[in-house]
Parts: sequence; structure tokens; C-alpha cells
Amino acid sequence: MSARPRPAGPVGELRLEQVGRRVALPDGGSLDVLTGVDLVVRPGEHVAVVGRSGSGKSTLLNILGLLDTPTSGRYLLDGMDAARLSGRRRARLRGDSFGFVFQQFNLLPRRTATENVASPLLYARGRAFWTRGRRAREALERVGLGHRLEAVPERLSGGEQQRVAVARALVRRPRVLLADEPTGALDVDTGAAVMDLLEDLVTAQGTTLVTITHDLSVAARADRVLRLDHGVLTPMGDRDVAGATADRQEPGTSPVAGSPAAGTGGGGTGAEDLGAGPTAGSRTRLGRLVGGAS
Ligand SMILES: Nc1ncnc2c1ncn2[C@@H]1O[C@H](COP(=O)(O)OP(=O)(O)O)[C@@H](O)[C@H]1O
Ligand SMILES: [Mg+2]
Repeated sequence: MSARPRPAGPVGELRLEQVGRRVALPDGGSLDVLTGVDLVVRPGEHVAVVGRSGSGKSTLLNILGLLDTPTSGRYLLDGMDAARLSGRRRARLRGDSFGFVFQQFNLLPRRTATENVASPLLYARGRAFWTRGRRAREALERVGLGHRLEAVPERLSGGEQQRVAVARALVRRPRVLLADEPTGALDVDTGAAVMDLLEDLVTAQGTTLVTITHDLSVAARADRVLRLDHGVLTPMGDRDVAGATADRQEPGTSPVAGSPAAGTGGGGTGAEDLGAGPTAGSRTRLGRLVGGAS
């Protein structure tokens, strides 16, 4: 499986084999944030991971995005063991292959929407670098913000800021988009609209999407839903998702499990609230993204 020394280009299949992540605690002890996680995400697939706050969701996503490393098990990118990457190639692969969307948007506060979206291209080479302004404007037009190109984040609504963040995540046309609670800071309708947009864009680009959420109505839009509980990942049946979602559905709306095309619209009212996760670490992650996307 892992015979190939390196992926030919930006990665397609993501495979976790018995992945564990243990962290050291200040008192000298340790905590197993993830234990024995097996996961295969195929190119173009849309996978959602649900779980309560503190269950290890962000840690899992950070490992997938090469922002964190397993302490046991293996992470294979197109069959290549990520542990064998040099720091430089790892940063390169991260910038080339992955786009990230965070709960708190994490836009650069004093920069215009265009500058924010162009920022990942500052580290690109050649044509991508020189055409970054035009590419950023086109990306903003695709998210419906062609009229807000020069706006700074504080002049934009939450939903608009997340659309800027989506444009930024997709401007380099990554193979994989990793979204950590993308609707967590938005009201239900705005969140659903952002998810509609995100799904349209990734579907059009053939991008793999991994969404982490505590909102089952968001999760139900994915091809496949997995639940993370105390560091253990298990598949969720369609019935579990539909049942949990339908409980809170307004009359006249249909369950949407396994049907990304159906679109939840504003149908769900937040579904089962598994507890909003803290976002500590997002800013340092952003620093590594911007700094490391060579
Ligand atoms: N570097 C770390 N040091 C100590 N504890 C950590 C570290 N990283 C994560 N944790 C703990 O691991 C648990 C899971 O974290 P996280 O992946 O952020 O969960 P989630 O995103 O599901 O809320 C939390 O209890 C968190 O405090
Ligand atoms: Mg989290």
C-alpha cells in the first residue's frame, strides 16, 4: 500500500490507520485525544464528523490537514505515509492540497476581502502569484461578494465573512476542503446558505469535503456521517442522523439524510446540539497556514 514514496501531485485519497493522538498534560500525565481511528476519505466524497465538544474533532481535522501529527498509527496520503514527509514538503503539500474553513472565519482584520482571499497566493509561484488579485476577485464573485471586494471584515456580516473565508479556502483549488464547525458562529439560515454555497463550489470543483460539526442538520447533508466519541470514530447510520434531525424538524420539511442535493435550507433548527466546541488554537493554525503555504 505505502510502497509509492510520494504522491504524484496534490493528494486524493486520505487514509487513517489506527491513528492515535496522545498529548502531554501539565501535571505530567497524558491524554489520549484520539484512539485507534480508522478512516478512508475518497476523492470527491463529502464526509461529516459529529461529536461533542472535546471529543477530538479538531484534532482529527488537523491531522488530516497536516497541521498535527498522529502519535500512533499511520496517515496515508494516496498511499504515502505522511510521517515520511520532510517539514518543507509537508508544508508544501498542505498549501497545495488543503483548504481550511474555521468557525471564527479567521480573516485578517485590516485587509480587504480581496486581500484576504489573495493571501494564500502570496506564497504561490509564477502565474498564480502574479494573477492573485484577479483570481481573488473571481473567487469572491463565485461566493456572491463581487460587490464587496474592498470591504474589510468588520464591515461584513458573519455570513459574508464566512463566504470570504470559503473563497480564500478555495482560491488555490485544493483537492480537499476541511471545514471545522463552519456554521458554528452563524444563525441557522445563514449557516445553511453558507453550506449550500460551499457544497455547490466543492461539487463543481470535484473537491473532497470533510465537515466537522456539532449540528446534525449540517452533518445530514454529507454522503457519510461519522461520530467521534471520546477519541473513537464510528460510522453513523442514516437512520441515526435522520432520526436525530427529524426530531427538531419543522412540519413540512423532509429528512435529508444521505442526500446532499436535497439541501436542508432552514429546515433544521439546529438539530441535536452536541455542544459548541472551543476554538482555541484556530489562530495559531491560521498562522501556520499562511506562513506554511509555500
Ligand atoms: N495539545 C493539547 N494539550 C492538552 N489537551 C489537548 C491538546 N489538544 C487537545 N486537547 C484536549 O483534547 C480534547 C479534544 O480536543 P479537540 O480536538 O479540540 O476537540 P473538539 O474539536 O471535538 O472540541 C479536549 O479535551 C482538549 O482540551
Ligand atoms: Mg473543535
